[in-house]
Amino acid sequence: MLHSQQLLADPRIEQAKKLLQEALAEQSLKIESVRGPRPELMESYANQLARLAVARGGAPYFPYISSGIGNGPFVELGDGSVKLDFIVGIGVHGLGHSHPAMLRSTVDAGLEDTVMQGNLQHDAYSLEMCERLIRLATPSGAPLHHCLLSTSGAMANENSLKIAFHNRFPASRVICMDNCFAGRSIALAQLTDRPAYRTGLPKALDVDFIPMFHPADAAGTTRGAVDTLNKLLTRHPGEYACLWLELVAGEGGYYPGTHQYFESLCQICHDNNVLIIFDEVQTFSRLSQPFAFRHFGLDRFADIVTLGKVTQVCATLYGEKLKPKGPILSQTFTGATASIRAGLAVLDELESKGCFGENGWNIRRHQYFRSKLESLTEKYPGKICGPYGEGMMIAFTPGDGSAETAKTMLQRLYDLGLMGFLAGSNPNRIRFLPPPGITTEHHIDLACSIIEQAIAES
Ligand SMILES: Cc1ncc(COP(=O)(O)O)c(C=O)c1O
Repeated sequence: MLHSQQLLADPRIEQAKKLLQEALAEQSLKIESVRGPRPELMESYANQLARLAVARGGAPYFPYISSGIGNGPFVELGDGSVKLDFIVGIGVHGLGHSHPAMLRSTVDAGLEDTVMQGNLQHDAYSLEMCERLIRLATPSGAPLHHCLLSTSGAMANENSLKIAFHNRFPASRVICMDNCFAGRSIALAQLTDRPAYRTGLPKALDVDFIPMFHPADAAGTTRGAVDTLNKLLTRHPGEYACLWLELVAGEGGYYPGTHQYFESLCQICHDNNVLIIFDEVQTFSRLSQPFAFRHFGLDRFADIVTLGKVTQVCATLYGEKLKPKGPILSQTFTGATASIRAGLAVLDELESKGCFGENGWNIRRHQYFRSKLESLTEKYPGKICGPYGEGMMIAFTPGDGSAETAKTMLQRLYDLGLMGFLAGSNPNRIRFLPPPGITTEHHIDLACSIIEQAIAES
């Protein structure tokens, strides 16, 4: 037996994990619903927030510093308040807060020899994560054979662009969708359809945009996107390396496309030797399949796919034919040992809870949440529109959809105990990314009763 196997077989380890789990559960299970702050903690908490604003160079969007414990979608903050967290760090904590599987996996990681994994030194779980993601991506034949781990969605996307440019040199242009968001590097700021996010940054890439799908005019918007794409390909022959797509525009406002819309665009790109990149950093794990490209039946077009957030470590998947011929891909870190172990535990939970499938838990909860929000739109006409989104990505437009109305509504929800976030512009929406591994109908009921209270007061 290897020393590592002997260590793991030591009964003290299982006993220690059991004790930790019991201690955590004893406190965690006391956090059962939302509540306001404790008056005696408010001053020290305000002081901590003020120090955070100085230390990080600006106040965080929410006055949120976690106390370090929660229970499912409930999280306790340092002022003693408890929030119903339906945004989970913008889609990161797929099992919510203080989940026992997270404790177990990160304790296991703590027993490994190093805190970080890297391209020079991999552990067996890095291999397991790569193989697992490839397996989840390929049951219907997507041409994805390799997986490169990284520490952010932005880096996963940077790697995807490198692979695309490298394979289509000297093509140097990118096609994106209106309203999209790709990440915060200088190159990705060009892909992101938000001029404010490029303020003062040099232009790093040539990017052209095509119109998004809109359900109110499915045929018209599909035709418009196809016409624009054809025009661009004619205007810049041979200059496009890739089409980069979010299949549900996340930051852009929770606009999903359809199979037909995406297929039309992807087929044209495929025929013109333009590679297709699906950005699944926000969508991964939230629709009827772990990968949204499978939900939309686009397997054969998946040249390169990026993911992150819920998986705790990020990744770029790509096909054998696209394997770079030079050393263009590497970073010191692939991910934290704990991130990789925790990511595997998240995948286990999501699969064992039946999140996926045409009538899987993600779809059923979407329908439940949708029907409750629809009732609110009927009860409060003009005060709420929607809902929008797909699976465990759901949003509504408050009132007139102005930025001010959305920000006021978001703050009101926060004060009442529900955490969501903004999405889109014109209209501005409130979006929710409920943790897919643990959100129940009971949690959705509570969220909707808070939304109703906020709307009634608006
Ligand atoms: C669709 C999409 N792509 C990329 C990113 C960037 O990921 P990260 O913030 O981990 O760099 C995000 C983050 O919100 C995203 O939603």
